[in-house]
Amino acid sequence: MSDQVKVVLQESEMPRQWYNIAADLPHPMPPPVGKDGKPIGPEDLAPVFPMNLIEQEVSTKRWIDIPEPVLEILKLWRPSPLYRAKRLEQALKTPAKIYYKNEGVSPAGSHKPNTAIAQAYYNKEFGIKRLTTETGAGQWGCALSMSCKLMGLECKVYMVRISFDQKPFRKMMMRVWGGDCIASPSNTTNAGRSILQQDPNCTGSLAIAISEAIEDAVTSKDTRYALGSVLNHVLMHQTIIGLEAKKQFEKIGVYPDVVIGCAGGGSNFAGISFPFICDKIHGKNVRIVAVEPEGCPTLTKGPFAYDSGDVAMMTPLLPMYSLGHTFIPEPIHAGGLRYHGMAPLVSHVQREGLIEAAALPQLECYKAAVLFAQTEGFVPAPETSHAIAMTIREAEKAKQEGKERVICMNWSGHGLMDLAGYEAFFDGKLKDVALDEKALQKSIDSMKGLPVPPPLA
Ligand SMILES: Cc1ncc(COP(=O)(O)O)c(C=O)c1O
Repeated sequence: MSDQVKVVLQESEMPRQWYNIAADLPHPMPPPVGKDGKPIGPEDLAPVFPMNLIEQEVSTKRWIDIPEPVLEILKLWRPSPLYRAKRLEQALKTPAKIYYKNEGVSPAGSHKPNTAIAQAYYNKEFGIKRLTTETGAGQWGCALSMSCKLMGLECKVYMVRISFDQKPFRKMMMRVWGGDCIASPSNTTNAGRSILQQDPNCTGSLAIAISEAIEDAVTSKDTRYALGSVLNHVLMHQTIIGLEAKKQFEKIGVYPDVVIGCAGGGSNFAGISFPFICDKIHGKNVRIVAVEPEGCPTLTKGPFAYDSGDVAMMTPLLPMYSLGHTFIPEPIHAGGLRYHGMAPLVSHVQREGLIEAAALPQLECYKAAVLFAQTEGFVPAPETSHAIAMTIREAEKAKQEGKERVICMNWSGHGLMDLAGYEAFFDGKLKDVALDEKALQKSIDSMKGLPVPPPLA
């Protein structure tokens, strides 16, 4: 059994509930607060999100039922297969067993629809007619455009300028699914206009696009905002990945020694890892590794602080590792990993010592992605390549140590819309991006004067 290339579940074996890690945290998380340091209540979030999702955001219930209409749509591509990467193992001559959960099989090509479908459903239930959002790589914008169309909502997407220019086909996909996508910063919002005044050639950032999307949502009728990562409910919707993976490993009588995911805002990493972290909290010996780019090293270089999720400081202050809300990462190709903050829940498990984090250089990640495509066939998204590069490091370590280690990686999405990055890599035009330490410090300083989170109780 453990020699299977692909471990599949029947639709009837799909998890019917999401896992909420808030129920199992050793220490409670600090709450989101306003600039005065006072905790934010559900009503404060009501102009931005529907109340049924706000209830999930603050819930500490361990299991939350997945509504039947959401399950029905998830079944279009779920359960996703768990693959054994035998050809990659052979190429690396490693005794490690490498497994990857293929989230690239969704219509939009990544894990993002797992939460987009759920968010569109809850908004529709609440009577909302239109959703706004930001997108980096374009994966989230595609996922939400598709989900809104399937649920009968309108969708407006603010796409980070650098990706808007680098990824023309993502825009077209959003259009196919009925989404209205514009480049951010744009001149349609106050937040966008003020950035363009300072820098007309601004390449944008997720933090700017979030400001624009929230401003649009709170100033338009029957409109709310949907976030593709970072928030508790988003991470919870993604836990279906890890819950399925655990069932799949059970089927073949295997349990991973190490679980790896790339981390931008933290949602796919949380999705694969939180069900395993639950086991770890309850005594299981498993390592969990979050991988980020050297050009945007939130978990590895950011202080733990209260910071805003967007540049115009429209969001509440979240307790998280952050490079500062004014941080504009160099234009690396993994657009989805260019976010200044890390999900509060992921930040919290890092603080608790339940996970490790590593920052990897861009070129090593592309090299790993090409090796993966040339052994396993599937072409990875640039974001996913970070998890692959870390997996290869772990497999090589296993070889040096002569250990038969079991590695589980989340393969968060395919790169068929990201070929410009591969072209730049093959043509020798890609460089490892040295972090501008001065700019980073300036951005970290932008958090000065904000409330400070308490130490772990
Ligand atoms: C394929 C893929 N993987 C990973 C990410 C990073 O996001 P997150 O950390 O929320 O999973 C993105 C974001 O756009 C993505 O498109």
